[in-house]
Amino acid sequence: MSVRVRLGKTDSEISPVGMGTYYDPGWLVSSKLLKITPNAEKHISAIRAGIESGLNLIDTAEIYGTENLISRAISGFDREELFIATKVWPTHFSNDKIKKSCERSLRNLGLKQIDLYQLHFPSRKIAIKETMGAMEELVDQGKIRHIGISNFNLAQMREAMDALKKYEIVSTQMHFSLIRREIERDLIPFCKDNNISVLAYYPLGHGKLSSGRIDNKPIFKKIEEIHGGKTVPQIVLNWFLSKYDFVFPIPRASDPDHVRENAGSIGWRMTPAEIETLEKSLE
Ligand SMILES: NC(=O)c1ccc[n+]([C@@H]2O[C@H](COP(=O)([O-])OP(=O)(O)OC[C@H]3O[C@@H](n4cnc5c(N)ncnc54)[C@H](OP(=O)(O)O)[C@@H]3O)[C@@H](O)[C@H]2O)c1
Repeated sequence: MSVRVRLGKTDSEISPVGMGTYYDPGWLVSSKLLKITPNAEKHISAIRAGIESGLNLIDTAEIYGTENLISRAISGFDREELFIATKVWPTHFSNDKIKKSCERSLRNLGLKQIDLYQLHFPSRKIAIKETMGAMEELVDQGKIRHIGISNFNLAQMREAMDALKKYEIVSTQMHFSLIRREIERDLIPFCKDNNISVLAYYPLGHGKLSSGRIDNKPIFKKIEEIHGGKTVPQIVLNWFLSKYDFVFPIPRASDPDHVRENAGSIGWRMTPAEIETLEKSLE
């Protein structure tokens, strides 16, 4: 049985760990401009390995150039079991452009409905009331299921919440990891109080926390021994799950073996003392 956790105040159930699908700037440029997608088959295998390992949360964005790839990766799986999140870029935040972006993402993903539609970054140009009005219309039309945001600070988040009339923000996506914990000061307590989920991007520190560079810390060896051979990436991802029940790390899914390994961060829990030692070892 796959582990599922409720997203915010919704009735949607998602895996405690998701799959990110932003590869790198080179991939983005070559896929968009040259229509060449290096390692596409490997990325597709990675996403499929994740689904087979119990992960159902897949994150993308219109700007990543990976919506088509996801469409191919999820083909053959039960749509109802999957939770697909994408994002709209701020230059498309006007009422008409956001609707066009949404249609394009639906087409690229091969879906009738996007489970979570996120505003990628706050816009300095388009009033949030206009954008959120369009997002609410998209929910009413059944094109998107839930509204999310990304990279909004607390003040911007409050403003975005106030701009909604009928629906609520269910999640925010933020840079968050064992070595990037600023949001624990304000956003995390606010999200906890308001039952808003947090999708943690760069959960492995964009690779800094998945490499051999940190596994010389004695605490990793200790946790590995106590919890039955857990690896460094599994410990780093489990930190989110042991500490919070509303934070969902979304490590990049590009290598099937890594994705399977990352799925092994689910289903076990570190003690508060282990969490504290782990945090101190990386300060
Ligand atoms: N909202 C935003 O503005 C925003 C911004 C940036 C990123 N994101 C999202 O966050 C996702 C994650 O970001 P990210 O991919 O840059 O950072 P990340 O997941 O923290 O780190 C990815 C790096 O870790 C490696 N890795 C993953 N699992 C591993 C394992 N088990 N063992 C060893 N290495 C492992 C990857 O290598 P392999 O590729 O070889 O597995 C890659 O080099 C993106 O894909 C995207 O969906 C969102």
